[in-house]
Amino acid sequence: MRLYCTKDYQKMSRKAAGIIGAQVVLKPDSVLGLATGSTPIGTYEYLIKGYQNKDLDFSEITTVNLDEYKGLSRENDQSYYYFMYHHLFKDININMERVNIPDGTKEDGDAECARYESLIEQYGGADLQLLGLGHNGHIGFNEPADEFVKNTHCVALTESTIEANKRFFTSADDVPRHAYTMGINTIMKAKKILLIVSGEDKAEILKKSLFGPVTSQVPASILQLHKDLVVVADEAAMSLIK
Ligand code: F6R
Repeated sequence: MRLYCTKDYQKMSRKAAGIIGAQVVLKPDSVLGLATGSTPIGTYEYLIKGYQNKDLDFSEITTVNLDEYKGLSRENDQSYYYFMYHHLFKDININMERVNIPDGTKEDGDAECARYESLIEQYGGADLQLLGLGHNGHIGFNEPADEFVKNTHCVALTESTIEANKRFFTSADDVPRHAYTMGINTIMKAKKILLIVSGEDKAEILKKSLFGPVTSQVPASILQLHKDLVVVADEAAMSLIK
């Protein structure tokens, strides 16, 4: 594991974008695994700057996103497709035909999960998978549970996740009850994993994830077993790690 501690969120974002940018330069046809949420927004802004400065070319890049709400279409402004388009894809020269996100409109969850899993399998896993960290240690929508779920699957959102996400919707009733997510094995297949973490409210779970026991009760703890894990966290998130 390589651990970088940065002064603040901006510096974390810049460092993470530098690592992703290096991947894009070294292997222009990389498969990038991407995440939504508030943590990667700054990283995506720096990647856009890299494109605008002509340092980065995304024309040969393929992307696979971690997860998507079941029942939301691409046009829905709460869908993760919409998020990715507006925070990154619309501002870089990515070929949208190489963008992959689980299709939230597919009713047959098993079929959609199998399709997505086999697609990632065909790519041989992501070259680099970017991850944020949930307050309970979740990665993607892999929530604390009695066992790890290996492959892409459909999850019922926990009450706490619905509660946490309701701020983005008109009411809690509008928050989708299910989501499609890469499984733990799908994530671990990535050749490199880049975990980005910011803020004091993540300090405890970051410490548990990186230095506590590997357990499905803290899904991110599995990352300790990955052979190329890079963590970029700001001082606040690192405050409990000596
Ligand atoms: C996002 C995702 C989630 C987030 C996590 C942290 O696609 O799968 O696991 O990475 O919930 O979210 P933020 O960054 O908003 O704290």
